[in-house]
Amino acid sequence: MLPVIALVGMPGGGKSTVGRQLGRQLGIRVVDSDAEIEARLGEPIRSFFERAGEDAFRRIESEVLAEILSGPGELILATGGGIVLREANRELLQRRCTVLYLRSTPEELFRRLRHDTQRPLLQVRDPLAKLRELFAQRDPLYRRCAHYVLETGRPSVHGLVNMALMQLELAGV
Ligand code: S3P
Repeated sequence: MLPVIALVGMPGGGKSTVGRQLGRQLGIRVVDSDAEIEARLGEPIRSFFERAGEDAFRRIESEVLAEILSGPGELILATGGGIVLREANRELLQRRCTVLYLRSTPEELFRRLRHDTQRPLLQVRDPLAKLRELFAQRDPLYRRCAHYVLETGRPSVHGLVNMALMQLELAGV
């Protein structure tokens, strides 16, 4: 049994919400890698990202991921949407975790994120086009890294959590 359940997927795909609910239902500690990064930075991701650039953010993201996964014990880990960009992160996640990919279409993600002001990559004139571009780049990477893909469509959080629980049960996790 893999003691860490990691949720990966695009921004707005429900990783944090589903993570919290799963943690509650399974009685397992939940860690959100973005929250850990912000605690370390002492500032919101958006301002750091805009000031220091994406590469600097990705370096810290990888360090924080490695730190989170170096500890013992059970854990639900909600990751940032770009965690799969680095091969080392994908390998680490695959080796150390049961990885669930919460998969939604760019159109569905746009519906959920159209008023978002926190995600630096989406502060552009055409966020839907940006989501389509990110999805085209990342969907194969999420798939490569994940042990299970959950097509999320438009179910409730409750429905999603049950889908995740069913998948984990079937997998004997
Ligand atoms: C990012 C997604 C964000 C956060 C950062 C970069 C991305 O996390 O890590 O803004 O590259 O898609 P969420 O997926 O939780 O929004």
